[in-house]
Amino acid sequence: MIPGIRGTRDILPAEVGRWQQVERVARAVCERYGYAEVRTPVIEREELFAKGTGESTDIVQKEMYAFTDKGGERITLRPEATPSMVRAFVEHSLEQALPFAKLYSLGPMFRYERPQKGRYRQFHQLDVEVFCIADPAVDGEVIEMASAFVAELGITVAELVINSVGCEACRPRFSAALVEALGARLSELCGDCQRRARTNPLRIFDCKVPADQPIIDALPHSEDYLCEACRVHFDEVKRHLDAYGLLYRVSHRLVRGLDYYTRTTFEILGAGLGAQNALLGGGRYDHLVKRLGGPDRAGIGFAAGLERLVLALPEGAGDANVADAFVVAIGEASWPAARMLARDLRRAGLTALIDYDGHSSKSQMKRANRSGARRMLILGEDELARQQVTIKEMETGHQHTVARDQVTAELTKLRR
Ligand code: HAM
Repeated sequence: MIPGIRGTRDILPAEVGRWQQVERVARAVCERYGYAEVRTPVIEREELFAKGTGESTDIVQKEMYAFTDKGGERITLRPEATPSMVRAFVEHSLEQALPFAKLYSLGPMFRYERPQKGRYRQFHQLDVEVFCIADPAVDGEVIEMASAFVAELGITVAELVINSVGCEACRPRFSAALVEALGARLSELCGDCQRRARTNPLRIFDCKVPADQPIIDALPHSEDYLCEACRVHFDEVKRHLDAYGLLYRVSHRLVRGLDYYTRTTFEILGAGLGAQNALLGGGRYDHLVKRLGGPDRAGIGFAAGLERLVLALPEGAGDANVADAFVVAIGEASWPAARMLARDLRRAGLTALIDYDGHSSKSQMKRANRSGARRMLILGEDELARQQVTIKEMETGHQHTVARDQVTAELTKLRR
């Protein structure tokens, strides 16, 4: 046996109903809020993420599945969707094509991380992006939609956390304040943090090394270094969240591990998920479209981890549909009629199971029991001669007979 790759998972039949439930609700919510679906490739040029996600991020530094293809191009499996969405938006001039530049996508992402519960090397995201609107009302609507999505899944939320990381005008002052506040203590931090202090001090907040945390907790807050425009924007975002009745906590540590964020950042944390408790995260990125070669357009969005949503889903959600009927053929001569019966039920939109020729009626009934089907439809020589079918309710054992041409109508009625 050749086992699957560490950090990847097979989604098996017992679990797939929960996935379908999450995907169904994701699509429904996105469509309701006016988002159009796009599907972008899993492979992209490596430079898209070096430039988009950012050279100083852990994702680009340590976690990319990057390789040289047979044509000599540097390619990577996408670690996140946002740069791809921006690329597609620019490459296909979607600004002109759509009433609102609101896009969503569902699909697998790849990061070479240390696998643990809720963290995988191949995982799946619902990604949601809005381009071209800088107004804080969009921040409010996007966060409200994210909350509504999680609530509709019946997931218990621990909290909504927000922050503002400022813009290109006020960020340098904050970065300088971080380095200054660290002072001599910088040498006590891990090697990664010392590198971050040189390349992008904001990234120090991404540090997970336990010994570093007390020092990082005491660092200045970005909120205190916002320029006037960023301050007004953040106040407006909070006002919108208040108006929606959403409860939130402002955390100065929420800088998120990606370089493109400006102003608003947010995360929704799930209850009872352990260390990997971010169900979704996102923020505004007002310079990314331009940085990736497009026009100067604002952007904001979020991505939700489907594995974590599936884990957090309440018990019993998305349980597999049980079959309406298992058709049992008794005696050689009944098989052709039994097969036509199964076909007719399926054409009528019912779920019908049937065994394959040669199996004894005993083994068919055993399989019918195992299938969990609601009822057995029995076709033997007697039924065949009388143009009838015997219906046996699996739960009660109750049996009754109906005319062959009434079976579909009868089962459709029973289903309601
Ligand atoms: P992110 O915070 O890197 O943001 O990922 C978003 C979500 O994806 C996380 O909250 C988590 O639920 C899930 N996730 C991330 N890594 C893993 C993993 N290794 N295993 C399982 N789940 C994971 C982004 O990716 C940004 N592109 C979000 C965004 C969109 N910002 C603006 N627009």
